[in-house]
Amino acid sequence: MEPVELTVADLHPSVDDPALNSMNFLNEVAQHYPEAVSLAAGRPYEEFFDSAAPARHLDTFRRHLADDLGLSPAQVDRTLLQYGRTKGIVHHLIARNLAVDEQLTVDPETIVVTVGCQEAMFLVLRALRAGPRDVLLAVAPTYVGLTGAARLVDLPVRPVAGGPDGVDLADLRAQVCRVRAEGLRPRGCYVMPDFANPSGVSMGLDQRRRLLDLAAEEELLLIEDNPYGLFPAAGTERVPTLKALDTRRRVVYLGSFAKTVLPGARVGYVVADQRVAGSDGTVGPLADQLAKIKSMVTVNTSPIAQAVIGGALLAHDCSLVAATARERAAYARNLRHMVDGLAARFPAGGPVRWNVPAGGFFVVVTVPFAVDDALLHRSARSYGVLWTPMAHFYDDGARVRALRLSVSAVTPAQIELGLDRLAALVSDELAAVGSPA
Ligand SMILES: Cc1ncc(COP(=O)(O)O)c(C=O)c1O
Repeated sequence: MEPVELTVADLHPSVDDPALNSMNFLNEVAQHYPEAVSLAAGRPYEEFFDSAAPARHLDTFRRHLADDLGLSPAQVDRTLLQYGRTKGIVHHLIARNLAVDEQLTVDPETIVVTVGCQEAMFLVLRALRAGPRDVLLAVAPTYVGLTGAARLVDLPVRPVAGGPDGVDLADLRAQVCRVRAEGLRPRGCYVMPDFANPSGVSMGLDQRRRLLDLAAEEELLLIEDNPYGLFPAAGTERVPTLKALDTRRRVVYLGSFAKTVLPGARVGYVVADQRVAGSDGTVGPLADQLAKIKSMVTVNTSPIAQAVIGGALLAHDCSLVAATARERAAYARNLRHMVDGLAARFPAGGPVRWNVPAGGFFVVVTVPFAVDDALLHRSARSYGVLWTPMAHFYDDGARVRALRLSVSAVTPAQIELGLDRLAALVSDELAAVGSPA
């Protein structure tokens, strides 16, 4: 064996943490079984990719810089090709998008354009984690990218019960009290009010208002993550975002263009309008502090990637609702297909249950047997279907008898095939545990 220079114990503890291995593990399983139908991947549907679109969008944004903003040819080139503004160059278009699609008015100066929403999470958690007494609350089950980002900055995550309303407010209040009673500081609570990943659950309007009131009473920040909000189920009305209802600057809003425009562009953003008093007596938005951190992580988000997103926004008068009509229809159709397909295969009132999300990419199926990585391997190898064990979205290592199905990267025919295979696996597992089907 080759000699080793380091052991993982010499490195930051996060690198040996299951949260950081989760996405790699799931990708590796998928690569290992390329023939399997994947109801695991929460990626956008690839048939929608248009390889000519990035160049077109780039050109649209270039013309915007020249014609709308009055930049000279040299300034246009510098904007696109040189190192750039840390907070980004499409902030004004993102602000317009939020006004058009979310009826949300934000000062563009409170926006930081990031390398995907993932970087936005990291910047926010890095900024909020001031010392060893700080902890983050997060509605469970929790997107593993958030848990992983918290690990990177040594910020412990305390779960808050989600439940059918998206967040159990009594539990949130109890967790805040518990944390404070332990002499710790809750720095915020991570929530996904729209079609959450992985639970598929959404919050109603009243619940959002109550959550905002609780946040104000407890002086708690809410970190709202909203990558799926534009994909309601057919016939479902969208509900205003927390940020659109936030009159007290309690909400830090995370956005992503991965599902609405192009995942490969790797562009997301954060709206952070909280006022921060500096040590020099000046007051400015939290976004300015996040930008300082960003300047030491990615310097600035690729202006070329931002231009692609900017051009896509401009092509639809900054409305992503308008830009994603085709995607919305396909994802809604697939979600309906998935839910109907489950009902066709598993009897009502039986041991297999699932939720019926109001939108988004994900459905959670609950079963009366253990659902772990070993079962996933077996499912892929012997049954030819991939899904995600829900245990990946809980931080406590507890056994979870549920799995997440995704509808985004498949066709209705693949959903049918995948569900047939899943039903075969479930039937064999039920027989093994002696449960009636
Ligand atoms: C809930 C949630 N937040 C954030 C992200 C990451 O977004 P991005 O690709 O913009 O980094 C994802 C990606 O799947 C997600 O599901």
